[in-house]
Amino acid sequence: MNINRRRFLSQSLAASAGLAGLPSLAGVRPSKEKYRVGIIGCGRMGQYFAEVYRALPDTELVAIAEWNPERRKIVGERFGVKALFKDVNAMLKEVVPDLAAVITPSKYMKEAVIACAEAGVKGVSTDKPMAARLADADAMVEACRKRGVVFGGGNLQRAMPEIQEAGQRLNAGAYGQPLGMAVHGFGGEISGGGCQHISVLRLFAGAEVEEVMAWAGPPEALRQKDDKGLNVNALFRMSRGPDCQVFGLTQPYGTRQLSGVDVWSEDTLVRWKWAKPEIYQGTDGSGSRRLIDPGYRPFSWRRILDQVPGLRKGDDYLVASIRSFVDAVRTGSELWISGQDLRQALEVAIACKVSALRGNRPVKLPLKDRALALYPRPYRWLGGDATENPQSTDDAAGGIL
Ligand SMILES: NC(=O)c1ccc[n+]([C@@H]2O[C@H](COP(=O)([O-])OP(=O)(O)OC[C@H]3O[C@@H](n4cnc5c(N)ncnc54)[C@H](O)[C@@H]3O)[C@@H](O)[C@H]2O)c1
Repeated sequence: MNINRRRFLSQSLAASAGLAGLPSLAGVRPSKEKYRVGIIGCGRMGQYFAEVYRALPDTELVAIAEWNPERRKIVGERFGVKALFKDVNAMLKEVVPDLAAVITPSKYMKEAVIACAEAGVKGVSTDKPMAARLADADAMVEACRKRGVVFGGGNLQRAMPEIQEAGQRLNAGAYGQPLGMAVHGFGGEISGGGCQHISVLRLFAGAEVEEVMAWAGPPEALRQKDDKGLNVNALFRMSRGPDCQVFGLTQPYGTRQLSGVDVWSEDTLVRWKWAKPEIYQGTDGSGSRRLIDPGYRPFSWRRILDQVPGLRKGDDYLVASIRSFVDAVRTGSELWISGQDLRQALEVAIACKVSALRGNRPVKLPLKDRALALYPRPYRWLGGDATENPQSTDDAAGGIL
């Protein structure tokens, strides 16, 4: 089948499933009013956020709270920001931005998110993992909910426009009834990296993980407080649709070992493996699944990647995440990745560990014990300066990670 015919079929499929009526994934038109943005924690990841915010037409960087005095000065010069502060509390005394991006190490996110919500920002975003203890994640979600503050989830693949579109198609029934789901490579770092899998799975399934039964190891990794080296095999019972099989190991997708999420129906397989989801439909002459052109809609904000030398081609989902966050604040549209999504991902990861520790007993979500915690690896929890991996001044000045 030639490309045009594939695209035509994929587009007619989308139209027949009612997708033509869905809001455009290209985002709403930006308003003339500029949102004032504060960055809290302006290390490696924070600088990428700052690059995007200064490139968007409807946002401007007005303040930076950065703990490290030398880096604070350097990023202030790099981004042309004069309102520089040591931490979130010092910042909020003088500047309450419209939007706050909290990209400190995970340990400090709770304090900053809640302080921003209480100070009256319109939206606050964080990154992964948002916390270690469930009660802390709850407190962040609740502080934002109570005050009507939009709570965004940061730089996760779930925000990639093509992943959103694949999720919309699956949920609209464009590929028929899902018959099965699988997560591959849920190992090594299940609260840090594993957030990505759980967030994509929940989107594709249009459902929550309701019950977890897990087998995990090696034993020394299971006994640790953090998720370093923890490999999890599991069965997820979903609130809707089929169960999801979870494999700790990566799979040989084609020639490379990768992790990802598969959802399949009678005729179609949707496969996310850290890029735009592949879609397979029908079979080829040898009886194998046939890869089709998914015909995803273009994402107009991708142009930001070409405009900003400090961004990588793979930063499209960072741009999309931020765009969806800004649009959600302005129009109330749905977030492509939210703080609530990050909380759910943490909870699933913790439930896996609990099940494995209790002799593989099924564990229902939401977990009753909100004091349960799972720590990420020290770099994520405490940051580069505290774990002998500081960002050099040259990198902080030039935007190279
Ligand atoms: N989503 C992703 O793909 C991704 C990638 C990398 C990092 N992250 C997450 O981003 C977070 C930060 O990682 P990073 O690589 O930027 O680390 P980093 O160490 O390079 O930067 C963290 C910065 O925060 C500053 N800081 C620490 N405590 C602070 C506080 N209380 N107030 C203000 N500033 C403070 C530090 O001085 C440092 O400059 C981590 O949670 C990490 O897990 C996510």
